[in-house]
Amino acid sequence: MGLTKTYKDGTTPTVCIIGAGFSGMCAAIRLQTQLNLDTYTIFELEPELGGTWWSNTYPGCACDVKSINYQFSFEPNYEWSKTYAGQQEILEYQRRVAKKYNLYEKIRFRTEITHAEWREELQQWVLDWTNWNTGETGQMFADIVFSGMGPLRIPQIPKQFDAFEGPKWHTAQWNHDYDLTNKRIAVVGSGASAIQVVPAIVDKVKKLEFYQRSATYIVPRRNTNNSALWKFLFKYVPFVHLLYYKLTYWASESTIRAFSTKWQHTPTRRIAMFLAWSYRFWQIRDKELRKKLTPNYILGCRRIVVSSDYFPALAKKNVSVHTARITDVKGTTLTLSDGSQQEVDALVLATGFHTQDILSEGLLTGKNGHDIMKVWGQDPKTYYGITSAETPNMFFLLGPNTGLGHNSVLFMIETSCEYAIMAIAHMMEKDLSSIQATPKACKDFVDEVEEKMKGMVWSSDCKSWYQNEQGKVTALWWSTCTHYWWRLRKFRHQHFVGIQRSTSRTYAL
Ligand SMILES: Cc1cc2nc3c(=O)[nH]c(=O)nc-3n(C[C@H](O)[C@H](O)[C@H](O)COP(=O)(O)OP(=O)(O)OC[C@H]3O[C@@H](n4cnc5c(N)ncnc54)[C@H](O)[C@@H]3O)c2cc1C
Ligand SMILES: NC(=O)c1ccc[n+]([C@@H]2O[C@H](COP(=O)([O-])OP(=O)(O)OC[C@H]3O[C@@H](n4cnc5c(N)ncnc54)[C@H](OP(=O)(O)O)[C@@H]3O)[C@@H](O)[C@H]2O)c1
Repeated sequence: MGLTKTYKDGTTPTVCIIGAGFSGMCAAIRLQTQLNLDTYTIFELEPELGGTWWSNTYPGCACDVKSINYQFSFEPNYEWSKTYAGQQEILEYQRRVAKKYNLYEKIRFRTEITHAEWREELQQWVLDWTNWNTGETGQMFADIVFSGMGPLRIPQIPKQFDAFEGPKWHTAQWNHDYDLTNKRIAVVGSGASAIQVVPAIVDKVKKLEFYQRSATYIVPRRNTNNSALWKFLFKYVPFVHLLYYKLTYWASESTIRAFSTKWQHTPTRRIAMFLAWSYRFWQIRDKELRKKLTPNYILGCRRIVVSSDYFPALAKKNVSVHTARITDVKGTTLTLSDGSQQEVDALVLATGFHTQDILSEGLLTGKNGHDIMKVWGQDPKTYYGITSAETPNMFFLLGPNTGLGHNSVLFMIETSCEYAIMAIAHMMEKDLSSIQATPKACKDFVDEVEEKMKGMVWSSDCKSWYQNEQGKVTALWWSTCTHYWWRLRKFRHQHFVGIQRSTSRTYAL
C-alpha cells in the first residue's frame, strides 16, 4: 500500500525546511517525489545552496568517502571525475540536482530563521525570518518543520587568536583574496580540514608553520581519475554503477568492526592500527617527525583521515611541525610552551566547528514554551536523532547521534528523511494535526546509544568533536548505516502520540 498523500479533505500540510544543504535538499525532493507535496518553502541563510560545499572552499577541499557513495541514492552521478571528488564538483552536483527538482524556485536565499516556536493552540510552528539582503522580517506559519541546519557549520575560533594582528581566517571562510605565494603561513589544527589544506598550499608558501595539538590517524587515499570508459560503463551498461555503488557501500560498512572495542573485534582493530602504523613508517623516514605524528590514542576514536599527500607535505623542508602548546599570540608572532617563537604573515585556523551548541539558546521554543537548547543542554534527547518529545512535527536531519565515523552521512540523511515522510503520511492518513515521539521512546533511544557506545572506540579515552563536554558521544550513531535503516524501515506508531485535527484530543497512536 502506498503512502497517504493528502488529508481526508484533500489538503496537505504547510512545510518549512531550514537549510539548503544536502539535508534540506533531500527533504524537499522526498516531499515532492514521495508525497507529491509542493506546499513547502526552504529558508537558506546563505546566497547559494550547498551548505558545507558552498562554504568550505579551502584549497584541497574534497570528500573523504568515495564519491560514488557521496551522492543521493536516487540521483546517481555517472560523471564524478575522481574517486574522491573535490568541493567544486560536489557543489555542481548539488546545483544540478536542485535544478532538476526545481528547488531554486522554492528557496528563499539570504533568509535566516531566527526563531521557531511551537504553538500548541494553533498546532503549528511559527517561524521568524530575516532577509539579510533587504532587512525585511516576517513570520511563517508551518504545520511541519524540517531542520537541516548542519552539524559542521559554525567555525570554532579560539579566543587566543583574536590577538593576531595579521590576516587570519578559518578554513570554512577561506580568504581567496590573500596571495599565499612566498608567504610565511601558520596552520593551526590537525583535523581533516588541515590535512587537506597543508598539501594543497605547501608548495606555494615560503614557510609553513604547522601547529598540531594531537596527531591524527591517516590511511592512504587512492584518488584516481575515473576514465571515460568507466563513465561510459556507469551510464550505459545496466547494473555496473549500482554494483560499484553497493560494493563501495558494503566495503565501508565492513570497517565498523575496527571501531568496536569488544574482544572479538580486537584483531580487526589491531590490523587497522598496524596498517596505519606501516603507512606512517613508510611515508616518513625522519624518526623525530614520525614520533610527533604518532597518535597516542586508540584508532578511530577521533576521525580517521584519508590522505596520501599529508605526510610527504609535512616532511618538506619549508615545513616546521610544532607540537608544543601555543601560549601567546602577539602582533604576528606565536609563542609556544617550549619557548620558541614564530613570526608569520598570515594565520589559517583549521580549528574545527562548534558541534555541541549548534542550536543556539532562543532559536527553538518547543512544547510548553521550553527553550530546546536549555532543555537538552549538551545532552539531546531525541528519537533516532530525527525528532523529540519536545518538538512536535519537527524533523531533524543529520541530528544528534546520526553522524558516522565510517561511511557517508548522506545515507543517514536519506534514511531520516524517509522516516519523516512516513510520519507525515501517517499524520494525513489518521487526520492528525500533530505527532510527537513519546518521552519513553526518546529515553530508550538515548539510553541504548549510551550503553552501546561503551563498546565502541568513540567513547574511549580521547577527546573529539563527537563528544560533549562530559565525554558522552552525542554526534555519532553507534552501528552500521544498514542497522540504522533496518530500525527505521517501518514507521513505528507505538512510539508516537498525536492530536486529532478536529477534536484537539491526544491519542496514543
Ligand atoms: C569540509 C567538510 C568536508 C566534509 N566531508 C564529508 C565527507 O566526505 N563525507 C561525509 O559523509 N560528510 C562530510 N562532511 C560532513 C557534511 O557536513 C555532510 O556530509 C553534509 O554536507 C551536511 O549537509 P547538511 O545539509 O546537513 O548541512 P550543511 O551542509 O551544513 O547545510 C546546512 C545549511 O543550513 C543553512 N542554515 C543553517 N541555519 C540556518 C537558519 N537558521 N536559517 C536558514 N538557513 C540556515 C546553512 O546556511 C547551510 O546552507 C564534511 C564536512 C565538512 C565541514
Ligand atoms: N572530507 C573531508 O575530508 C573533510 C574535510 C574537513 C572536514 N571534514 C569533516 O569535518 C570534521 C571537522 O574537521 P576539522 O578538521 O574542520 O575540525 P576538527 O577535526 O575538529 O579539528 C580541529 C583541529 O583544531 C585543533 N584545535 C582546536 N582548537 C585549538 C587551539 N586552541 N589550539 C590549537 N589547536 C586547536 C584541534 O586540536 P585537538 O585535536 O587537540 O582538539 C584539531 O586538531 C571532520 O571530522 C569531518 O567529519 C571532512
